[in-house]
Amino acid sequence: MQINDKETMSTSKQTGNATGTWTYARPALALHWILAVSLTGMVALGWFMISIEDDPGSDWYFNLHKSIGISIFLLVLLRIVWRLTHRPEPLPSFVPAWQIKLSSVTQMLLYTCMIVLPVAGFIGARYSKDGIALFGVALPTAVPNHDLAELFFSVHGVTAWILVGLVALHVAGALKHLLIDRDGVFQRMWR
Ligand code: HEM
Repeated sequence: MQINDKETMSTSKQTGNATGTWTYARPALALHWILAVSLTGMVALGWFMISIEDDPGSDWYFNLHKSIGISIFLLVLLRIVWRLTHRPEPLPSFVPAWQIKLSSVTQMLLYTCMIVLPVAGFIGARYSKDGIALFGVALPTAVPNHDLAELFFSVHGVTAWILVGLVALHVAGALKHLLIDRDGVFQRMWR
């Protein structure tokens, strides 16, 4: 077993897993759960602000969304760097091959969405007439272009739906391991 990144072995008592349960290291756990909560909140905020787009005061929600979105993007980059430099232990051999394949494809697509979503939102917002104020500080703007802004906002909106579908699949898999299989796989991402 290769543990090159302070990821830890916990005892098998908690899970009933005879071989022990490997867990992700604290930074990986923290990034996973912070991004899980913040991305969920951002999808809710995105849909909410679109529903009040023409109401007075909606600008506040749009600026908040853009500022948090850029912050999330930086965390996603940090997470990808961490993931590339800290290989996780493979899933236990008792997990069926098709589930291992499905989970790795899902995770790859989740990472793709976590990049495409904020980047498309950022580019769309740069081409929009409102521009971007990062926590109140105006960022350099592009020459406003309505068609390009709409194009990138369409990509942004569709990617949000794809992300929601992937997260649903990811959560269903995690809950199956936690509640049905009870095989310690969920605990890899839980302290
Ligand atoms: C990081 C994760 C992000 C998530 C999960 C997210 C999610 C969403 C969602 C669900 C919508 C509603 C889409 C629709 O129904 O049409 C939305 C809209 C929007 N987002 Fe994001 N967003 C993120 C990042 C960003 C960033 C970084 C920016 C810009 C800096 C941004 C700018 C916008 C804007 C301007 C809209 C309104 C688009 C329109 O008017 O059609 N978002 N976002």
